Amino acid sequence: MKERSGVRRVIAEREEELPTSEFVKIVKIAEERHDVISLGPGEPDFDTPKNIIKVAKKKLDQGFTHYTPIGGRSDTKKAIAKKLKKENKIDVNPESQVIVTVGAKEAILLSLMSLVDPGEAVLIPDPGYLPYRSMADTITVEPLSVRLKMEDGFEYDIDEVKKVIEPKRTKAMILNSPSNPTGTVFTKKKLEEIADFAIDNSLVVISDEAYEKFVYDGSKHISIGSLNGMHNHVVSIFSFSKSYAMPGFRIGYACGPRDIIQAMTRLKMGTTLSTPTISQLAAIEALKGPQESVKRMVKEYDRRRRFMWRSLNEMGMECLKPKGAFYMFPKIPRGRHNSTTFAHSLLHKTKVLVVPGTEFGKYGEGFVRMSYATSYQKIVKAMGRIEKVLK
Ligand SMILES: Cc1ncc(COP(=O)(O)O)c(C=O)c1O
Repeated sequence: MKERSGVRRVIAEREEELPTSEFVKIVKIAEERHDVISLGPGEPDFDTPKNIIKVAKKKLDQGFTHYTPIGGRSDTKKAIAKKLKKENKIDVNPESQVIVTVGAKEAILLSLMSLVDPGEAVLIPDPGYLPYRSMADTITVEPLSVRLKMEDGFEYDIDEVKKVIEPKRTKAMILNSPSNPTGTVFTKKKLEEIADFAIDNSLVVISDEAYEKFVYDGSKHISIGSLNGMHNHVVSIFSFSKSYAMPGFRIGYACGPRDIIQAMTRLKMGTTLSTPTISQLAAIEALKGPQESVKRMVKEYDRRRRFMWRSLNEMGMECLKPKGAFYMFPKIPRGRHNSTTFAHSLLHKTKVLVVPGTEFGKYGEGFVRMSYATSYQKIVKAMGRIEKVLK
């Protein structure tokens, strides 16, 4: 551990252990320069649909500013259960099997805390969403990185899982489809394989489906919680941040076996208590109101995705065609040092900001993440700049 001086001496080691983010450094450099195009965003560039804003404003005026029950308002949970049944084919009791959380992130943390004790382990995708690792670290749970390979389409390969699992200590497995950062949408066949493995090894799957609405090329998002025999083995997690462009509302939800949802609710009582009331009311409108804005967003993301993918491949940055989310995960060109130096050099030479693949785990080395949650025009400009320097 590093020597610490001044007030830093009183900071718990837990914080010291958190992974450092190269991306934060890159963003800082970018902020000092003009005309940078950021392909870094992890949030929609669209505004929250007007019907949702309208309801939120009205409810504030009506005085909905108090706490709600810990697991969420009954009407919000009912609307969620209805959506889960219709869209995800997951049948749950709204009162006992749904919890409304402060974003999908709180649901991930609460599920990890409910399922995995300190010293035990959780399987996480690598490359994968960075907070899986930091949340596990924070609660002194060991994250076991499962390598996702480009040749497997960045899906879990059960042989890779078998290589790293420590059967006695491993309690859960995080699955993220559609995936950040690779854009992979897991096939039904793969999900069935994972489901069998989870059942055989008494694992609970924590299924992060934050990007459920963003699927392209006719592919389908399937919730692993809807598969036969999985009702006792999955906590399914969803978010309003991406689906309805509501990241600042900080609202998501989870569903699963009654005992697990109850454990999560008890932990929430001792931490954040309840999810913002106004967000829970806005969420009902999101689910029950018109869905045209979601369709419009998906259509626009798809247009950008097709353009970006074609451009990257034409300029020699090999990239799988992502079927979901709003990210590309291309290989850095041959002969470049590594993801971090490549990201720095792109920023320096082209004023385009990308995220080094290593932000998503050690197996992200050799790749960068580019988000298309930014305007079509900016993407066209960014691709043009990158092509120029790669030539
Ligand atoms: C895979 C994944 N899960 C969860 C989240 C967080 O979602 P929320 O805003 O609902 O906490 C993100 C945000 O970027 C994400 O990429």
